[in-house]
This record gives sequence, C-alpha cells and structure tokens, in this order.
Amino acid sequence: MTRSASETPYVLVLFYSRHGATQEMAQQLAAGIESVAGIAARLRTVPPVSPTTEAVDPEIPAEGAIYATLDDLRHCHGLALGSPTRFGNMASPLKYFLDTTSELWMNGALTDKPATAFTSTASLHGGQEATLLTMLVPLLHHGMVYAGVPYRETQLLTTRSGGTPYGTSHLAGAKAERELDVDETALARAQGARLGRLALAMRSLHEEA
Ligand SMILES: Cc1cc2nc3c(=O)[nH]c(=O)nc-3n(C[C@H](O)[C@H](O)[C@H](O)COP(=O)(O)O)c2cc1C
Repeated sequence: MTRSASETPYVLVLFYSRHGATQEMAQQLAAGIESVAGIAARLRTVPPVSPTTEAVDPEIPAEGAIYATLDDLRHCHGLALGSPTRFGNMASPLKYFLDTTSELWMNGALTDKPATAFTSTASLHGGQEATLLTMLVPLLHHGMVYAGVPYRETQLLTTRSGGTPYGTSHLAGAKAERELDVDETALARAQGARLGRLALAMRSLHEEA
C-alpha cells in the first residue's frame, strides 16, 4: 500500500502497555504532536507475546489503540516508541514487533526520520534511562535520528518523579498508584511537540516520490 500524497503526514506513537501507564504517556505525547499544525499522531500498540500453546486473541483489541502494521511504520514521518521498563529493558512484545521490521531496514524505510522513546517504571531508580537507551539502539540501526528532551524544558531540572534527557519517563509506583504528574505531563507533551516539528522539518529528506 502506498501513501497518498494528500494524506496528512503523521508521527507513529508505537507503544506497549500492560497496565495503562505507558498508554497514558502515549496519549500525552500524541497531544503534543497534534499541537503542531500540519502533522497528526497515529497511536498504535502491539499484541502480547504468547507461546504457541496459548490461545490467540482477536486481531483487533477489545479496547484502546489498534495493533500496528509494518505499513504504519513504513509511512510515518517520525516515531515515538513507548514501553514499560522490564528489568531495565523494553518489554518483549515491543521488541518482538521490532524484530519483524527487517524488510523496512533493508529498504531504509525509516532512515533520516526522527525518533524518540518513553517509558514507565514502578520504582524511581528502576532503570528508566537504561530502558530508554536500549530502545534507542534498534532505532539507530534503522538510520533514524534520535531526539531526546532538551534542558530548555525546565522541568528536567526540577522534577521529583519522571523525566530524563534521553526521553520522558513516568514513575507509576509499586502498585501503579501514581497518575502522570504535572512535570511528567509537561515533558511528554513537549517531547511530542518537538518530534512533530522535527518530523515536518525533516520531511524532505525521505519523502516518497
Ligand atoms: C517482568 C517485569 C519486569 C519489570 N521490571 C521493572 C524494572 O526493572 N524496574 C521498575 O521500576 N519496574 C519494573 N517493572 C514494573 C513496570 O515497569 C511498571 O509497572 C510500569 O509502570 C508498567 O507500565 P504499564 O502500566 O504501561 O504496563 C517490571 C514489571 C514486570 C511485569
């Protein structure tokens, strides 16, 4: 499927969320992206990974964002990748999806497109930065241009919860009891808006014929 030239360019917000915290962040990034005139946000998730002995779920989830396709990724103008922290790394469903993107890698479909990452943890020092750094690695292999959060976002200096220059983060708490606070929300929105602006500015580098 080729993207119609008249279609509004979009940033793909691709995330996995088991309990909703990363999804909340995804929604704030999407709001930031949509605050930029001329670009849209496309929210997509990935299914859980199951062994072959488990029953499969329907192709369309009962609620929330629908599952991403390779075409969602192929035609995006930027990518925000979100995952809960799992032992200091991204969750396997997201990694599993990325492992299906070899064809896009071979064709350079994501090269010269801007990307960023976001994560949620149970504990404050539970590996937010480590997770963000591991998420950036496959994006570099794809030739994407990684954009974190610059310190002009002053909440980076004052936050008592999430927020890192590697990307935004959220402290959800051991019982997932914490909502996104004011700083985390402002940083996620700023990260989304910056990615939206970069996606528009870098459009000519990879625009399809
Ligand atoms: C297998 C597993 C590993 C986890 N590893 C970490 C970790 O290393 N550090 C941490 O702070 N939280 C860890 N958590 C907690 C999640 O990162 C946290 O609950 C997150 O906010 C969940 O996001 P979600 O609501 O989008 O699913 C782990 C959870 C699971 C299930």
